[in-house]
Amino acid sequence: MTALPPGVAKAFAGQAHWCRSNGAPLTAAVCEAALDACDARSATGRALIAWPGEPRADALALRFAGGCNGLVRAGLAPGLAALYPPMPVPPVPVLAAALRDVLAKSARDAELCRWLEGPPQTNEVARSGVLMPGLMAIAAATGLPLRVFELGCSAGLNLNLDKFGYDLAGVRVGDAASAVQLAPAWTGPPPPVAEVRIAARRGVDLNPLDVADAGVRDRLLAYVWPDQPDRLARARAAIALAQAQPPPIDRGDAAGWTEQHVAPVTGSVAVVYHSIAFQYFPPVTKARIAAHLAGLPAHAEAPVAWLRFEMDDAAAAHLPTLRLTLWRGGAAQDHLLARAHPHGASVAWH
Ligand SMILES: C[S@@+](CC[C@H](N)C(=O)[O-])C[C@H]1O[C@@H](n2cnc3c(N)ncnc32)[C@H](O)[C@@H]1O
Repeated sequence: MTALPPGVAKAFAGQAHWCRSNGAPLTAAVCEAALDACDARSATGRALIAWPGEPRADALALRFAGGCNGLVRAGLAPGLAALYPPMPVPPVPVLAAALRDVLAKSARDAELCRWLEGPPQTNEVARSGVLMPGLMAIAAATGLPLRVFELGCSAGLNLNLDKFGYDLAGVRVGDAASAVQLAPAWTGPPPPVAEVRIAARRGVDLNPLDVADAGVRDRLLAYVWPDQPDRLARARAAIALAQAQPPPIDRGDAAGWTEQHVAPVTGSVAVVYHSIAFQYFPPVTKARIAAHLAGLPAHAEAPVAWLRFEMDDAAAAHLPTLRLTLWRGGAAQDHLLARAHPHGASVAWH
């Protein structure tokens, strides 16, 4: 039987390595088992063999792993489910045999194959544990309420970030009674202590996820690695919060939306923020956002802030950065506030 082509095999092996070093050993084993279980006998295997794109850039392994988790969560793959958490991580050949059983059933094979068609779309709640101290820095610098605008907000879970509770290096902020509590492992000095008052919020995404739709919720949760129960619980709690208090989200490209919505208003700070999203924007979108923000008539009573938690020089440092640019008349002020784990598990404050 035809084995997976080297580019696909490399992408799955690379993803397995990444998952294993980031606390997701079962997801790593699923990626490795796929190499053994997928061949030209199944529609899923044929789709992987003939993959027309770039397997790594297309996050092909995460599409596959998300699909497996989706089938397990839906009760459609009991043999596979028996090997998933809370069970201990099985040996890869055992997982491969269970995957082969799934792929041998044409309806399940077709379902798994459908998961390969679209990119995984996630919304990582713990990134609020990185963004929130950034908002505190803006509030401390300006003393003003914030009007926040999130670019690439996905399901908008992090637009409710002031409704979560936080322990940031012992600094407790937000809602202590919230079902979403974030306490990233912290190094460096504590964040500036200032009350974050959000006067208005709005987000944009090319493909906004509506958590009112049960199918959308299921899909969003399927992309959360099943071996990370805390992450799953946080996502569930933030989804419930967004269902109860839906943040306004528009569909569109971030550039035109920023130009249309973001302007200084006296008595508040206009804060544009985004996390692990900018890298997906086309170059022209990035350039238009930067030009729009720099060209706004900001002043001390109507500042503009751009807070970004992004992989901007991750190749060098292995960790994304939290950067802030503040305009309040005169030259822009640039700050490297922190480096943090891409999922928000830890923050190194500067
Ligand atoms: C990796 S997700 C991150 C989502 C969220 N910011 C988070 O931290 O969980 C990137 C998001 O950017 C969105 N996106 C990609 N290109 C975009 C564009 N040109 N304009 C607006 N959103 C875009 C995607 O649809 C996706 O929801």
